[in-house]
Amino acid sequence: MSHAEPSDSHRHQHHAEPEGEAAAMAELLDLDAEVLHSYLSGVTAWIRELAADQPGRRILDLGCGTGTGAFALLECFGDAEVTALDLSAALLHRLRDRARELGLADRVRAVQADLDAAWPEVGPVDLVWASASLHHLADPDRALARAFAVLRAGGLLAVIEMDSFPRFLPDDVGVGRPGLEARGHAALAAWQTQELPHLGSDWGPRLAGAGFIIEAERPFVIELTPPLPAAGRYARASLRRMRSGLDGHLSADDLSTLDTLIDSDGPDGVLRRDDISVRTTRTAWVARRP
Ligand SMILES: C[S@@+](CC[C@H](N)C(=O)[O-])C[C@H]1O[C@@H](n2cnc3c(N)ncnc32)[C@H](O)[C@@H]1O
Repeated sequence: MSHAEPSDSHRHQHHAEPEGEAAAMAELLDLDAEVLHSYLSGVTAWIRELAADQPGRRILDLGCGTGTGAFALLECFGDAEVTALDLSAALLHRLRDRARELGLADRVRAVQADLDAAWPEVGPVDLVWASASLHHLADPDRALARAFAVLRAGGLLAVIEMDSFPRFLPDDVGVGRPGLEARGHAALAAWQTQELPHLGSDWGPRLAGAGFIIEAERPFVIELTPPLPAAGRYARASLRRMRSGLDGHLSADDLSTLDTLIDSDGPDGVLRRDDISVRTTRTAWVARRP
């Protein structure tokens, strides 16, 4: 997923992350996994099938965030262990807490690492997973070359990226002018084109360029319709992230409507609306080191 908005440029410069920003990101990643749990179990089960008779025990999660992918993989790959790498100390802290809560602490090693800099000692591994993280890197091709180097021969790399920011609102939302969410997406996309040049990349050729053999490419189309228990909180967390980059890029009316949607506890806020859906597509590439 690209839960990216302008404050992500700080992360590119690898400054210390503000506490509130990390907490908001952690909430968003956890809600993402909660609301999209059937997608997450679907994609991990699919990778398990592709791994066939060599499922592997050593997994590397690149840009693990709060570990939602790592935990889904541990559930699917029964006797596996995960090394989870991320730049964010706060997200790794959350991952370790969650691992303890789930009784999985002995199967997860969380290590702070900048994937654009030197990697910690991790190889060899059977499976590398990179969900919504490669597009954040300054040099994803170098990361792919490193992923190739740490995989055993025959091991798999799974890359997952979100095709676009998820949609939550009915099309008619917008005071006097429907289509507020579409306008927000267009403004966000303009920013992302500049700041996250690898977002929306066709990763297949890039994986092949790093020496991998592409096993499969698969879109996962997600269309969840109401009623959805956690969708309001997920929509609020996502739209808040989107909103933080939109000052000056949307009309005052649109910004005020968006503020009501994300801040109000009243009937117009997404927490109380009963028409919140979740529409998004994620594409997964699975490639093998020959
Ligand atoms: C959109 S989140 C995805 C998190 C997780 N993979 C998931 O699917 O829930 C992107 C993650 O990449 C991490 N990240 C961004 N740049 C990074 C870098 N240079 N090195 C390591 N991690 C990085 C962020 O801290 C964040 O946790």
